[in-house]
Amino acid sequence: MSVFDGKLRIEVAAASGIEAVTKRELVRLGYSPEGANRGRICFEGSYVDALRANIFLRTAERVRIVLFAAPADSFDALFDAIYDYSWQEVIPPRGKVTVNAKTHASKLFALSAIQSVAKKAIVKKLTDKYGLRSLEESGEEYRIEISLEDDVATVTLDTSGDGLHKRGWRTYLGEAPIRETLASAMLQLSVWKADRPFIDPFCGSGTLPIEAAMIGGNIASGMFRRFACEDFALAPNIRPKVQQEAEQLIDRDVKLRISGFDIDGEAVKLALKHARAAGVERDIHLQVGDMREVSSRFKYGVIVTNPPYGERLMQENELRALYSDFGKMCATLDEWSVYVITSYRAFEKYFGRRADKVRKLYNSELECGFYTFLGARPPKDGSKTE
Ligand SMILES: C[S@@+](CC[C@H](N)C(=O)[O-])C[C@H]1O[C@@H](n2cnc3c(N)ncnc32)[C@H](O)[C@@H]1O
Repeated sequence: MSVFDGKLRIEVAAASGIEAVTKRELVRLGYSPEGANRGRICFEGSYVDALRANIFLRTAERVRIVLFAAPADSFDALFDAIYDYSWQEVIPPRGKVTVNAKTHASKLFALSAIQSVAKKAIVKKLTDKYGLRSLEESGEEYRIEISLEDDVATVTLDTSGDGLHKRGWRTYLGEAPIRETLASAMLQLSVWKADRPFIDPFCGSGTLPIEAAMIGGNIASGMFRRFACEDFALAPNIRPKVQQEAEQLIDRDVKLRISGFDIDGEAVKLALKHARAAGVERDIHLQVGDMREVSSRFKYGVIVTNPPYGERLMQENELRALYSDFGKMCATLDEWSVYVITSYRAFEKYFGRRADKVRKLYNSELECGFYTFLGARPPKDGSKTE
């Protein structure tokens, strides 16, 4: 009997500001998620659903299985609660156990002591059950997280391994790439749909156009990588089945109008390499060019972009001039909607237009505004988009 055979409580971690997008993705996948709590969204499912969440969720950072929750207002109580759990249903004799801790509004707050007590309790239970003197820990890794909140310890097992922003297609880093999960959330927060033209005039290493092409072609974000749970000795091998589902869902006939421009030739080379690795090079037009020269014969398109912020990349006066020219370029596009993420607080002033909406998002810990400038809706019958 293993924990992976039964009903599971699955916890999905999402970055601050994008929990609602992740929740919507879960609903679209057929689940009934609970409300988000401090960046965590739970739903009931099976081990297949945990793997599906890893493969299909575009905006989640990580997927964990909740093993149990128990009161723990002292180290003795923590040790006992952890020892009581049937760890032999999760971890085989050679499993490598790594413990992480988090604590909030609880009597236990020393993270390294929580980690060490929890690890001792797990190792003791496993050595007792398997009749071993010590654990070899030479096998696959089991990442356990102890999250204490109001003196209750929730104990989870990570199923993702590398963070889910790592899609498997990025092999080289551009100057300031945006996380794939955040890029996908920005696209999903926008009005862009596969039938509308899309431009990223500051595309850098191509993250936004590639994520758009993957959404447009219904290509699962986790198709090109492995997840930690695929190595779990006690879990069934269900990857081929879920991979087949993902393959069948790809829309190979979709016609996309996605373009990316960047003034830096090296960045565009990188973007091309990434697009090829993601299998979407035929869906994206990537070109070296100054954003000031971007134009389109299409109406009702969408720009979603991550321009320079000035943090590292340029001086403030250059940044203001760039934003001002960007505003002028956008004004030449007929009925386009524009979405911009930047940490520069006076962005609207230099862009030359007040946003219809500003949402707070974080790009690598940096607080940013996600500015929405809406164009008109396209006609329902799809006519006159050129
Ligand atoms: C923050 S980075 C974008 C990163 C990108 N989202 C990614 O994931 O790799 C901003 C990009 O704007 C580009 N850039 C700066 N000035 C530009 C201009 N006038 N026209 C086009 N691109 C420009 C830079 O070369 C840089 O790649």
